[in-house]
Amino acid sequence: MTLTPELIVWLQSDEAAIWLEPLTARPPSDLELLQTLTHLRKALPADHASALVQTAQLRRQAKGKFIDAERMFFAKEPLQQASASVVACHTARRYAHSRHVADLGCGLGGDSLALAAAGHRVLSVDQSALNLSLVAANARAMNLTSCVQPLRADVRLPAWRCHAAWADPGRRTGHRRIFDPEQLQPALSSLLAQRRRYEGGLGVKLMPGLAHEVIPPDAEAEWISVQGDLKQCVLWFGDLARDRKRRATLLPSGEELEAGGALADVRPPGHYLYEPDPAVIRAGAVGDLALALGLWQIDPTIAYLSADDRVPSRFARHWRILEHHPFDLKHLNRRLRVLQGQVLAVKKRGSPIDPEAFRRRLYHHDKGQPLVIVITRALAKPWMLICSTGLIGRTVGR
Ligand SMILES: C[S@@+](CC[C@H](N)C(=O)[O-])C[C@H]1O[C@@H](n2cnc3c(N)ncnc32)[C@H](O)[C@@H]1O
Repeated sequence: MTLTPELIVWLQSDEAAIWLEPLTARPPSDLELLQTLTHLRKALPADHASALVQTAQLRRQAKGKFIDAERMFFAKEPLQQASASVVACHTARRYAHSRHVADLGCGLGGDSLALAAAGHRVLSVDQSALNLSLVAANARAMNLTSCVQPLRADVRLPAWRCHAAWADPGRRTGHRRIFDPEQLQPALSSLLAQRRRYEGGLGVKLMPGLAHEVIPPDAEAEWISVQGDLKQCVLWFGDLARDRKRRATLLPSGEELEAGGALADVRPPGHYLYEPDPAVIRAGAVGDLALALGLWQIDPTIAYLSADDRVPSRFARHWRILEHHPFDLKHLNRRLRVLQGQVLAVKKRGSPIDPEAFRRRLYHHDKGQPLVIVITRALAKPWMLICSTGLIGRTVGR
């Protein structure tokens, strides 16, 4: 049974709270679902029973995205599309000089809530009645009702005045991810056409794989990762853009690296292999990272760096290289046998292999020394590196 705006209103009632509290504390497992629904239906209409169970289950799912998930209201798709609070709080900080911000396509309110919690008045615009009922319910749950004004409208036809704006266009149709910015909902061009409308600037959240060529020359582009997982690219315009540069931001630390066009030296692998954070790679800052940490590239086309020293940094993971050779499967298996290797992972860059299928072809000792095998290119040749997992790290900042 799908959730409706009417059910979201009912879920906030005192009657619903009596049932919702214990269900949130202990949501039914899939096995317990039928029994729980049957029990609830003895006292409640079927749609209320289903709304309670769905909310409890979605609150549990949402814990990774929202610290306050247990107080919030969700529906399946809006939750999938919502900005996680760690990212939304980071982007909301840009609006320090904006009194009134329009959230264009607010969904269930991931960004609206972060903006409101940072002290802004937010006009939360969406075309979906369900999403507007969710943003209203969530603002109420977080005591932010006075700062969040939901508005049902098409963001392509703005009839409002706000100082600055934030847009997070939909990146999915059904189960498919969208890669073309013109297929986003709404399309990127329809948002960019509005960028001069907002005196305080515009921020647009986009797919992390955004091609550099489509970035307008007046934008700052920020690629954001959370604990090494690349989440999004944000284009900043007007007063919200600090400059017209491209940069990587790592969350939760907030450390940044600017792409300045530095080129790394290219040399054979040393004692350590470094894999830059995906935000660094997407921002085009691999050479800048190499320069900052004193690393070199092992191939001019591949984003693996190396050094003879261990240089811990949040901007790259690293492994100790035990040995490296031109790529040769038979030789790799001979070496793994000698090393009594327990292959924990196969990583690849610039190689057509399928890591999982490749791993099954490797010698593996269940209790042997833990190893990571890297299949890549070095000095323009197919190469393989046998690395120890002992010193895996992305530790103290630099
Ligand atoms: C990715 S979701 C936004 C998620 C939101 N930032 C959050 O954290 O919950 C995109 C939203 O844009 C809305 N949307 C898409 N096209 C729209 C349009 N033309 N006018 C208004 N809303 C639109 C969708 O209904 C959806 O809720």
